Amino acid sequence: MSSPLQAIRGMNDVLPEEMALWRSFGGIVETCLERWGYRAIRMPQVEQTALFRRAIGEATDIVEKEMYSWRDELNNEELTLRPEGTASCVRAAIEHSLVYDGPKRLWYGGPMYRHERPQKGRYREFYQYGAEAFGYPGPDVDAELIVMCARLWPELGLSGLRLELNTIGSAEERARHRADLVAHLRAHEGKLDADAKRRLQTNPLRVLDSKNPIVQEVAAKAPPLMNYLGEGSLAHFEGLKKLLAGAGIEFAVNPRLVRGLDYYNLTVFEWITDALGAQGTVCGGGRYDGLFAQLGGKPTPGVGFAMGCERLVALMKDSGKAPAAPRPDAYLLHQGEGAADHAFALADALRSAGHAVVLHAGGGSFKSQMKKADASGAWLALVVGEDELRAGEVSVKMLRKSAEQQRVARARAVEQFNAFLQKAKE
Ligand code: HAM
Repeated sequence: MSSPLQAIRGMNDVLPEEMALWRSFGGIVETCLERWGYRAIRMPQVEQTALFRRAIGEATDIVEKEMYSWRDELNNEELTLRPEGTASCVRAAIEHSLVYDGPKRLWYGGPMYRHERPQKGRYREFYQYGAEAFGYPGPDVDAELIVMCARLWPELGLSGLRLELNTIGSAEERARHRADLVAHLRAHEGKLDADAKRRLQTNPLRVLDSKNPIVQEVAAKAPPLMNYLGEGSLAHFEGLKKLLAGAGIEFAVNPRLVRGLDYYNLTVFEWITDALGAQGTVCGGGRYDGLFAQLGGKPTPGVGFAMGCERLVALMKDSGKAPAAPRPDAYLLHQGEGAADHAFALADALRSAGHAVVLHAGGGSFKSQMKKADASGAWLALVVGEDELRAGEVSVKMLRKSAEQQRVARARAVEQFNAFLQKAKE
């Protein structure tokens, strides 16, 4: 016998029991996004590698070591499984001139791929819901996106998520800060770990969000980027904070929050939980006013976020308020010469009338079929046995709150079904 194959490390099966929670999560998130005026868009899961290199930045963890990239010899193309959605969404907006007639609010959901070291809450295939707003320069839409999240969490039954906020100014402001930051880090190079030393060369701002406490100590004394921001950047940040305060949203300004993708400017934010261990960021985002031009489009401001579905679903599961798996309305048993055909027709008619009906398959005694009906979670068992066949009837047995049993003419079973179902649920 050949040995069984397994799923790829860091890529998860979601089994039927858990799908109920995932679908409920998805329904709540999508309804919320639509209610706030965001419209769905879907982009491919594979793009040209150059898109992510240009958008996310060469000196980022994602581009340096986490992308699933390969050469498609059939077309002679360098391709990559998308590690995130913003780059694709902006590419699509440019390609289809989505903002030619004004700003757009968009949302997407789906799998993303990063070759990270798997651990709880960190996977190589993971799902995101993302929202992106194109063409809005002011802090009002930054605030809108953040408030939308704040309103979504309780709808998902979640509490205890905290908001961290920062501004990283413009590229010019960061360039002026960079010189002083590098000088400071150089002066303390002895305390930097290998990662920080490498970042010092390639992307010094990222040293600020090192998890290493000794590096953090050095970072804490670095010249604050905030001191290098001009009036426009400061006004944007103040505007955002005012709008958040007005909406009653609590936040902490974290000057070390810089995020791991290079396209950001001005606003960056993260929603964080302490309930999931090291992978506590459930949602992250910010502004990326330079990305359209960087990808060859007309300069257009952008701002958005993406939430990690696995992490949010895990929180929902822990909250104990996860919805129960859906039950079929009825499980249809059948036994005896010709019963299968009648049962098939009845199940077909009931489903056409909108009911969820599981038709028994695979034979077996009445007793074993009844056990399966019970295990299916159905509200009702419908029986077409020899007696019923002879009488042109079907037996209806309530399986949950009541154990009542009745017989009804098969011809009238569909029209009376709702009444039985109602009774079974009482
Ligand atoms: P990101 O911070 O890289 O941002 O990812 C957003 C969220 O996706 C994270 O906060 C986390 O919840 C989840 N996530 C990321 N990597 C993993 C992983 N390996 N396993 C499980 N969950 C993960 C972005 O992707 C940006 N595109 C967000 C954005 C949209 N910024 C502006 N617009």
